[in-house]
Amino acid sequence: MRKPILIANWKMNGSLQSNQALMVRLLPRLRLFRKTMDLAVCPPFPYLFQVRDLLGYTGIMLGAQNASSYVSGAYTGEVSATMLQEMGCRYVLVGHSERRALYGETSQDVSAKFRSVLGLGLIPVLCVGETLEERENNQTRTVIEQQIQAVIDEVGLASLARGVVAYEPVWAIGTGETATPEQVSLVHQDIRQFVARCAPEASGDISQELRVIYGGSVKPGNAFELFSLPDVDGGLIGGASLHADDFGTIAGALAEASGVLTGECETE
Ligand code: 13P
Repeated sequence: MRKPILIANWKMNGSLQSNQALMVRLLPRLRLFRKTMDLAVCPPFPYLFQVRDLLGYTGIMLGAQNASSYVSGAYTGEVSATMLQEMGCRYVLVGHSERRALYGETSQDVSAKFRSVLGLGLIPVLCVGETLEERENNQTRTVIEQQIQAVIDEVGLASLARGVVAYEPVWAIGTGETATPEQVSLVHQDIRQFVARCAPEASGDISQELRVIYGGSVKPGNAFELFSLPDVDGGLIGGASLHADDFGTIAGALAEASGVLTGECETE
């Protein structure tokens, strides 16, 4: 069984003060779920240290929103995966659509990042997704398959499955427009089938092992329905992750949808 996973992507939001306030409200809400699902928070780089301290030994992991594919050197403004590892990061987002669209990251760049993150034993979260124009031109499947294929070409199929794939339709990010359960279901199924086709000899294993999560305007009101879809293993949450109550409710929806609600009551 694939372990559910929920990741907060704060994007370029926060301050020392607001991060502290958010985490103080959030941590008690996540405590119930920390053993039955993987939970991670990805703040902007300057706050990694602060959030690492706030997370302490809660079992909730630290993540980063990006990493350079280079180890060190004259790359002004970049941050290497080695540095992120040293900061205590466990997850690193690679290829977020905002990186691809606003900073010109190609699938080759993203694959190199995936490789460097994985090489350090961190878990890359490969973001894939189509623009509205691509969807309207019936290119959704082709675009996503190309984005995944580039990573398979770079690291191989088995290594892809050591990461997480996040399906984030570009048109649903930060727009309040969520993909319908049918749309999400179809793409997640396609991703798993594509991976299975890439490794016919090991199809059962790798495609079933790979965790595929959804992101794009996930809110307390739609999370349960989306997470109940059989091929959806969790979520990558932007806007709603900046509100402790919303993110806590979304974690609860994932626990309920995945059947991992424990009723566990911790007092520490
Ligand atoms: P929103 O949840 O704000 O739509 O953002 C999704 C996202 O991009 C997470 O990486």
